[in-house]
Amino acid sequence: MRVLVTGGTGFVGRRLCADLHEAGHEVLVASRSPERARGVLPAGTDVRPQVLDFLDRPPEGVVNLAGEPIAGKRWSEAQKQRLVESRLETTQAVVELCSRLEQPPQVLVSASAMGYYGDQGERVVTEQTPPHDEFVHRLCERWERTAREAEPYGVRVALVRIGIVLGHDGGTLERLLPPFRLGLGGPLGSGRQYMPWIHRQDLVRMIRFLLEHDELSGPFNASAPAPVTNAEFTRTLARHLRRPALLPAPAFALRLAFGEMARVLLTGARMQPERIQQAGFEFEYPGLDQALGEILGR
Ligand SMILES: NC(=O)c1ccc[n+]([C@@H]2O[C@H](COP(=O)([O-])OP(=O)(O)OC[C@H]3O[C@@H](n4cnc5c(N)ncnc54)[C@H](OP(=O)(O)O)[C@@H]3O)[C@@H](O)[C@H]2O)c1
Repeated sequence: MRVLVTGGTGFVGRRLCADLHEAGHEVLVASRSPERARGVLPAGTDVRPQVLDFLDRPPEGVVNLAGEPIAGKRWSEAQKQRLVESRLETTQAVVELCSRLEQPPQVLVSASAMGYYGDQGERVVTEQTPPHDEFVHRLCERWERTAREAEPYGVRVALVRIGIVLGHDGGTLERLLPPFRLGLGGPLGSGRQYMPWIHRQDLVRMIRFLLEHDELSGPFNASAPAPVTNAEFTRTLARHLRRPALLPAPAFALRLAFGEMARVLLTGARMQPERIQQAGFEFEYPGLDQALGEILGR
């Protein structure tokens, strides 16, 4: 299959592109920095600056991952606008590509996030759970709605509501490891908030599963079947690193340091991957112990 990936240079995208390439697919990537992108992507990847640059090389499938990092900076009004626009503009470009191609792609797998549900406390969250209205929900809802605008062109659209992605060279773990290795880790706030997580390899496998299964469309929770609370995550990570993790970060300090963005750290959703499991997908890393063992044991 000829697959166009946006955000192909990112933490998830790099692994996805390598995987698709190894499996013999043709990989196309839209990147704002094509030179840098060619340096991190498999040899032979066709890298162009814009999605619409691929009008003359129509993809059969699209994976849409691009977006300004959510937890990268404090959420000033300007930063919130960047979070929204970076996602909507790329997704709109994908929809425009679909509208202008004589033979539109068969499938679009488009990223969304657990933030779609907003803060859900301890409730079990499936794809049917009504969201809690807040900034991250509205962001994900517009992102998903924009992706679905490809449907009238005959494109099957699958939305992946991604949990915290765990892998060895980036993402949340890369930020957590230095303080934890120094014994300075600890629960965030009460530690009772749920942290749905997924091993990066399982997310890549799930995206490929959705590319390949013609009958699957709509939203899919992309997180392992055993979500944990922040306190449990902290204990498990500390055990793997053989370090204490007794220094809690109080909620007020996180709010002071990160402003509204602290909600990402202090709230969560006990997400269950109901629809993808019903479709027959099996996780290689269903448990956190096993996932961290693989990642940290390298
Ligand atoms: N990692 C997680 O834990 C997690 C959790 C939930 C949801 N997600 C979502 O899944 C997607 C992929 O995650 P990731 O961790 O691989 O993301 P990432 O490493 O932050 O990379 C995303 C890519 O998006 C592009 N990008 C960054 N800022 C942009 C901007 N302002 N405008 C346009 N493009 C921009 C970059 O590509 P170029 O520089 O090559 O253009 C970057 O490589 C993201 O949309 C993210 O929100 C991730």
